[in-house]
Amino acid sequence: QKDEFLSQVSHEVRTPMTSIRSFSEILLEEEQLKPEERKRFVTTIHDESLRLTKLLDQILDLSAMERGERGWENTPIDAEATLDRAIEVCRGLARQRHMRIELGQRSKGATVSGESDRLCQVLINLISNAIKYNDAEMPMVEIRSAVRGKYYTVEVEDNGRGISRGDRILIFEKFARGQQAGGEPGAGLGLAISRQIIKRMEGTLELVPGTGSGACFRVKLPVIKAKVSAVETAK
Ligand SMILES: Nc1ncnc2c1ncn2[C@@H]1O[C@H](COP(=O)(O)OP(=O)(O)OP(=O)(O)O)[C@@H](O)[C@H]1O
Ligand SMILES: [Mg+2]
Repeated sequence: QKDEFLSQVSHEVRTPMTSIRSFSEILLEEEQLKPEERKRFVTTIHDESLRLTKLLDQILDLSAMERGERGWENTPIDAEATLDRAIEVCRGLARQRHMRIELGQRSKGATVSGESDRLCQVLINLISNAIKYNDAEMPMVEIRSAVRGKYYTVEVEDNGRGISRGDRILIFEKFARGQQAGGEPGAGLGLAISRQIIKRMEGTLELVPGTGSGACFRVKLPVIKAKVSAVETAK
């Protein structure tokens, strides 16, 4: 299992390394490059090194969590404020893709135990997946939250192609990408990391049946404190 992990890592690292090497060789060897070509190659080298850094950060983060290290303190956090922050971050990407972010029922507020930036990271991954992998004619993602009993839940549901039966368990594995990931960039680590983060906040992250044909992911976290009259419709 460890060998498989290592070979996956080297495979993922090799692609950006190869392009960095070949473009820098061209820059070193070719003396008559046009300025715009030069600029294009330097840009590619720069982008690929950013991608490599992100990949290595993701791998280190995940392996630390798998070893049982948390890397943060769980403290009481305002879950709804964190969700709002994640939605704001994703608005730019949504606009680029001409995608609607709809707010469904929202909880009135809940305090959960965790780390706000980490929860935000999970929600951003879910929302940006819903945007990236959505090929609907009128793409949209609906975000709902609720307090039920002792739990706070957030659901992120899109109207895209959904996730095939064979992929439903697989996509939570490291480096696993769905059959229809298309040309979207990504290493297939987002859901594996998200699941670890939520686990370390004593919660669960699951793919659940949604109301339509798209994918619906649910984050469920134990509530420390909830406002009374837990549900209201927000806009
Ligand atoms: N909302 C969705 N609709 C359809 N497919 C999805 C959706 N969310 C995830 N997937 C599939 O699950 C795969 C794994 O998602 P995950 O977030 O783990 O990795 P990624 O998005 O490929 O890369 P990254 O590491 O950048 O997040 C995706 O490649 C995609 O095929
Ligand atoms: Mg992702």
